[in-house]
Amino acid sequence: MSPPPVDRFALLIRQETGNVVPAARHGFLGDVLERRARALGLPGPGAYVDQLGGGGLPGEWERVVSLVTVKESYFFRAPQQFAAIERHVLPRILGARAADEGRNRVIRAWSAACARGEETGTLAILFAESELLRGWEWEIVGTDLDSEALDTARRGLYGERAVAHVPPAQLGRWFRPRGKLFQLAPELSRRIAFRPLNLARPPYDLLGGPRAPAFDLILLRNVLIYFHRPLQRRVVQAVAAGLADEGALFLGASETFWQIQGHLAPHDLGNCFCYRHRPPAAREGSPAGPRRGTPAPPPPPPPAPTSPRPVSEASAPSAVPAAEPAPPSGDHGLLAELERQVDDDASHLHAEPCGIQERLARAAAKLAADRLDEAAETLDEVLEADPSEPGAHALDGFLRDLRGEPEEAITSYRAALYLDPALYQIRLLLADSLRRGGHRDRADQEYRQVLAALASGRARSIPAFAPLPLPGREGAERRCRDALRGRAG
Ligand SMILES: C[S@@+](CC[C@H](N)C(=O)[O-])C[C@H]1O[C@@H](n2cnc3c(N)ncnc32)[C@H](O)[C@@H]1O
Repeated sequence: MSPPPVDRFALLIRQETGNVVPAARHGFLGDVLERRARALGLPGPGAYVDQLGGGGLPGEWERVVSLVTVKESYFFRAPQQFAAIERHVLPRILGARAADEGRNRVIRAWSAACARGEETGTLAILFAESELLRGWEWEIVGTDLDSEALDTARRGLYGERAVAHVPPAQLGRWFRPRGKLFQLAPELSRRIAFRPLNLARPPYDLLGGPRAPAFDLILLRNVLIYFHRPLQRRVVQAVAAGLADEGALFLGASETFWQIQGHLAPHDLGNCFCYRHRPPAAREGSPAGPRRGTPAPPPPPPPAPTSPRPVSEASAPSAVPAAEPAPPSGDHGLLAELERQVDDDASHLHAEPCGIQERLARAAAKLAADRLDEAAETLDEVLEADPSEPGAHALDGFLRDLRGEPEEAITSYRAALYLDPALYQIRLLLADSLRRGGHRDRADQEYRQVLAALASGRARSIPAFAPLPLPGREGAERRCRDALRGRAG
């Protein structure tokens, strides 16, 4: 007997787009199936899935993609990353270019899942206002799987929700009011090219082979999180092939280097990370292909045994990674309603009914019994099923701590806290790791946040973590106070 239509539909979506639809979203998927079958006059969901899978519904994938992918985006999302581009990334690129004989004075940026152009628009504002870029050309390419989103991006019209985090001065300077909407200034829009590109199908035409000019800046934000892990790795590898030698890749704030293998190294920019090509010596053993302009290396030896370590580039330790502001709310009719439904659904990705919590509990028990390799396997399975499960990232951090990989532990704790900021025990572990690593100021900010969460009643723990030696509320509070008084051991 063939599996239910909704399961087959989820599988097709995964094959076609790379997006994993967790079981918690299958109810929503069932509604989409019903609606689309009815709209096309098909006898039911089963017939719809058969025809979609058999290529019998031309143009239907475009429709499906815009219904089932999450489009949440807004201008200046994760502002700490844009500040770091201005402060750290551009100076480095321009500095390297100044030494370049050919004096190439064009900065190229690629937003690799640009939704409706909120990210490309933010970059355009940043570039247009940057003092550093005076006398330089810049080009921005935005790509996405969703052609409807790209059409909207080309129009450059945004509702209040999308521009809610644009500082007022920049809103006045770079947007024209159009009724209830805001239009990105044409002098910016015309410098942005939008093209369809399915990240799940590497290699990408956009990168056009080794002689095509590479991108100095690539934003691949908030899309890997929807992919299954092997695909995440393939996509990062394929995208990295288009990154210039001194270029920087940014992932979403919750997507950290568990997706990155040996070919890129994380760089700590203070309150966010970017990723760069490893220096040639360190790249030996990397599974990555050749960098642009470099001869192809001999077949690679097995991947390097160690994980990448962040290299600090920030001039001074800076504030705690700013949590992204809550997505602005607003109303744009039926489409927005549908999208909210998808987004709401996505925000429940963690509320998995299908054994995720049980598997987390098993992983926690294995960690408590010091069976680290088995715990790692179980965590891989959980992250494969749901890359956005905060508990799995939290346990991955715990595992990394036990393995003596402090930087990787910090990254995983941060990923967990991005996905669920209320996990006070994990924030405490993050604070402890930062303190041990000598980042006293950042650690203290985390301790204070734990205390604030406990005081506000927002603090939350994950029952599956019960086997682990984590402090309860009182213990956590005591540890934070001791640490802040400088007495903790
Ligand atoms: C949550 S939005 C992120 C937008 C923006 N990068 C940001 O961080 O605000 C995810 C975007 O990824 C796109 N997407 C999903 N699967 C994709 C794929 N296989 N290839 C390219 N884009 C994809 C979706 O259409 C959507 O626009």
